[in-house]
Amino acid sequence: MKLPRLEDADLTGKRVLLRADLNVTFEPGTTNIADDSRVTASMPTIELLRRKGASVILCSHLGRPKGQVVPDMRIEPVRARTSEVLGERVEYLGGPSGDEVKPSAEKLNASDVAMLENLRFDPGEEANDPQFSAALAALADIYVNDAFGASHRAHASIVGVAEYLPTYAGLLMRAEIEALERAVSSEERPAIAILGGAKVADKLGVVENLAPRVDAVLIGGGMVAAILAAQGKFASSRTAGDDEINAARGLIGDAAVMSKLVLPQDVIFAEEFSEQSDYRIVGVNDIAKLGFLLDIGPKTAQHYANIVSQAKKIVWNGPMGLFEWSAFAQGTAILAKSIAGNRKAFKLAGGGSTVEAINTFGVADGITHVSTGGGASLEYLEGKTLPGIAALRTEATSG
Ligand code: 3PG
Repeated sequence: MKLPRLEDADLTGKRVLLRADLNVTFEPGTTNIADDSRVTASMPTIELLRRKGASVILCSHLGRPKGQVVPDMRIEPVRARTSEVLGERVEYLGGPSGDEVKPSAEKLNASDVAMLENLRFDPGEEANDPQFSAALAALADIYVNDAFGASHRAHASIVGVAEYLPTYAGLLMRAEIEALERAVSSEERPAIAILGGAKVADKLGVVENLAPRVDAVLIGGGMVAAILAAQGKFASSRTAGDDEINAARGLIGDAAVMSKLVLPQDVIFAEEFSEQSDYRIVGVNDIAKLGFLLDIGPKTAQHYANIVSQAKKIVWNGPMGLFEWSAFAQGTAILAKSIAGNRKAFKLAGGGSTVEAINTFGVADGITHVSTGGGASLEYLEGKTLPGIAALRTEATSG
């Protein structure tokens, strides 16, 4: 796919509106940033723009304030961290809309960086309102979208604004698209997908899209309970809701998909949903009816690790169990280490809890590309067209 290259643009003396995804996570109940990887991932584009003599108006959403000013969701902690990581002052520009913003933006000098207030404080952002898009565009000469993690949202700062300004993909956006494209389409074989995590409904579309493109889809996490329930091996609906079981029925009823699925042979079964719960390793044909499946079992983990060690391409989304509780962390730990240990494969990982697992087990250096997008990377893997990427392509073909 051809995207306009920012490196080739003449940016001297230009004001650039840079949409980044700086939607960081905070330590519970505080404004202490728990994970600033989205801030650090945005640095290459900011630095490139400054080197090329542009002034940078940085903007992002933070949380879900639903079109209102929510004091706890002010952009300030993100501005402060961006400033620290960049090693340069990042001004606060106010806004995200209002009369005071434009005159302040016009005062910026080459290489200055300033940040707008949380875009979602304005209801026009999520509504993709043309007036808000035009107001954002009026601040700058050029628009750069580096917010891969928000590119599945058809919002004003992601889609609308591209209609008003010359538009470029940022370096992170391009790296994300290239890695995901390789994950979905390259001919590297054997190719495997490893899918786990809690949000089963989100993964079913990914299984359907990836199954024909890979040699095996290894299943862990919440999907195990849904599939076992659909197979009649696990009658409890306490860990898999009816909708999920019905969706899982659809999957296992599709012979082509089923032929690619690799399911656990054993699981860790707990009677209570608690870190202290008694638990035991059980074969998938011997699970008690009521309870919780909180991890894959040791035989399964070993089997999956063997498959991983042979692969040339690995797409990983979702932990194998509740790794935050040490009793149920083994499956994810073994998988994470075996993925990192396979030095010949291209490895893509994505999703909020997958990134947490990667950091918990210290394997980030062993993964080729860790996506900054949770929902966005899942939708890409499902084969959906992401509105933010479509807006860049339109520019690419027309320009
Ligand atoms: C994310 O964290 O996945 C992105 O920043 C998008 O956030 P949203 O789900 O609130 O749109």
